[in-house]
Amino acid sequence: MTSAHGALYTHKDCREVFGYSIPGETEMTAQRLDGRKLAKTIENDLAPKVAALTREIGRTPRLVVVLVGDVAASASYVKSKAAAAKRVGITADVFSIQESTTTAELVSTVEAIGRDEHGPADGILVQLPLPDHVDARAVLDAVPPDRDVDGFHPVNAGLLSQGRPHFIPCTAAGVQKMLLDAGVKTRGKHAVIVGRSDIVGKPLALLLASRGPGGDATVSVCHSHTSNLKEVTQQADILIAAVGIPQLITADMVKPGAVVIDVGINRISDGDTSRLVGDVDYDPVADVAEAVSPVPGGVGPLTVAMLLENTFSAAKERKKRSVMAE
Ligand code: GUN
Repeated sequence: MTSAHGALYTHKDCREVFGYSIPGETEMTAQRLDGRKLAKTIENDLAPKVAALTREIGRTPRLVVVLVGDVAASASYVKSKAAAAKRVGITADVFSIQESTTTAELVSTVEAIGRDEHGPADGILVQLPLPDHVDARAVLDAVPPDRDVDGFHPVNAGLLSQGRPHFIPCTAAGVQKMLLDAGVKTRGKHAVIVGRSDIVGKPLALLLASRGPGGDATVSVCHSHTSNLKEVTQQADILIAAVGIPQLITADMVKPGAVVIDVGINRISDGDTSRLVGDVDYDPVADVAEAVSPVPGGVGPLTVAMLLENTFSAAKERKKRSVMAE
């Protein structure tokens, strides 16, 4: 539809200004929640703080990443984490370990990193997934809680559940940041999370239900045993897909005007090539929703930005502890 000025009216214009919709109109209306832009702003705010801390402690804050095996997606995520760290002045060193390693070897390596035997490690991150034969919980438990910039240690998970968070898992924190930045009201709203992982679904449920800005929502968590998924998602004012099933969330599952956040990153083949898609069927959902986060360029960059913030905090807290111990 074209206005008198030649500009296209969107569905939203028609709903809000004229009070009607255009049957058959396929134009997309939802706000695109741009995670790249927000991540850039976070990096720009963080860089001078990192520079000041570097002057204070006489070295750059340092993140140590443990990468096991040669899963291409993990290597690619680690590369982007290291590149982002460099942009804000944080050193990121990657320990690449063979797939054939054992749980005991990995635990002992992580413990040694935690004792600074491989240089100062303000933040430690073990990239997941680990090979099937490794006990991932034992390895994650070996990260000292005060360097656990992923927020996966049971101490940090427990603190979050009690409403006194220390390190918050980065993707969950990134989703909340995106909602806050977009001015999405969460208080009293029904947030539906599809996915109950320890990394995203569970911590995000706690964050959205916690007291204060970005919280105070009524939260439902759906999972593989939810029998009436569509009925539940249709009730969501805020719908978060974090389940790892390509384009699971279709337009008919979304309440008109909902805010939809896509945490999924799935590679699907497309003829001879492949491409990344989320857990949300973006184009049709964007016709129904008020706002949708894209994949790529949505939650992914914010996950990395939250990791940088956590690493900066870990280095700053460490400095504080050392001053207090003097
Ligand atoms: N694999 C996928 N997401 C994450 C994450 O946030 N942290 C780690 N360590 N591994 C991941």
